[in-house]
Amino acid sequence: MHTDHAAVMLGTGTRVSDPASRRRVLKFQAPEIVFGEHSMIEAAYSVGRLGGRRPLLVTDAGLLSTPWVDELAGHLRSQGLAPHIWSGLTPNPKDHEVAAGHRAYRENGCDVLIALGGGSVIDAAKGIAILAANGGDILDYEGIDRADLPIPPLVVLPSTAGSGADVSQFCVVTDTARRTKITIIGRSLVPDVTVVDPRLLTTMPTELAAATGLDALTHGIEAFVSLGHNELTDHHALRSVALVTRNLLRTMEEPASILHRTAMAQAALEAGMAFSNAILGAAHAMSHQVGGMLDLPHGVVNGVLLPHVVRFNAVVDPESFVPVAVAMDLPEQTAAPVEAAAAVARRIERLCADVGIPSGLAALGVLDADVPRLAAGALQDACMSTNPRAADAAEIEALFRAAM
Ligand SMILES: [Fe+2]
Repeated sequence: MHTDHAAVMLGTGTRVSDPASRRRVLKFQAPEIVFGEHSMIEAAYSVGRLGGRRPLLVTDAGLLSTPWVDELAGHLRSQGLAPHIWSGLTPNPKDHEVAAGHRAYRENGCDVLIALGGGSVIDAAKGIAILAANGGDILDYEGIDRADLPIPPLVVLPSTAGSGADVSQFCVVTDTARRTKITIIGRSLVPDVTVVDPRLLTTMPTELAAATGLDALTHGIEAFVSLGHNELTDHHALRSVALVTRNLLRTMEEPASILHRTAMAQAALEAGMAFSNAILGAAHAMSHQVGGMLDLPHGVVNGVLLPHVVRFNAVVDPESFVPVAVAMDLPEQTAAPVEAAAAVARRIERLCADVGIPSGLAALGVLDADVPRLAAGALQDACMSTNPRAADAAEIEALFRAAM
């Protein structure tokens, strides 16, 4: 919690910490980042520099209908590389799809992975990379640092503005037998290079832009209030909150505006850097259960859950939400912290309504009878450990019911 180490809040929404917390050792993981319009060709240069000759280009059916796969494959060929394109995955990548991708990697003698797509594509590529080096079943690697052997080089090009998978040390895969999502965490899963070309965002379907933008907002807010936050993650978290609040709706009103797309690309990138290092909280722990059970868009579930989790967490730590209110440019930023936190929750709800996502879990197909199982799963999720307020099963069940 931010007040625990006597953080001093400044009017601008940034903070300076006391000397004791300054003495902590901080670590910050991030890939090499290339950012800007027409930066795509840099991915081909990176692959060559990393020693790859035969890339497995992981993408999905949606991306195959855009110009980007052909453009990237052309850049790779112009650098003397022979890519094999594999697109056999679905949203919320499944354990058996990762296994199939790994077979394609081996059968084609690949030596480097390139992911062109959203979070599902990038997570699938990370899963394939783990299996390429370590063998076995992807579900064997659930948890922190379970894959020992170094993975092949990984170059990613995000086509959505939200998942953060292009910068994070996280890989989320659906366990189809248990109908839940497992989280694999490891420093080696941070890609070597992420190439963020905002042009790629202009071909996103509108619903995907809404869902992934809300995911980025959830990353920013959960990372900022996380027990794992620090001075190196806070400004990235707040910056992402400000950028999403100002730009998400505009990208949907003006889909071709590269200005707003670039702002959302930066939002997703900064949110990803924040949460990969600060970890997340209860919204993600709960969302992983709902998403695993019903195969729903991750960002939509997050958007529904987040205001409820904000209210729950603000009971013990309202001060942490004041800088969030500042980032969102809310007039309540000067009110009492509890009022600022309540205003943050309301602003999230308004944004969700503006971008057209349902206001409750029931509309997404969640039944009251599902709640005990969902709550039990959330308590086991790795993201729960950094939520600023501890919760028991009854409290998580109440949160799920509040969000129905
Ligand atoms: Fe997320």
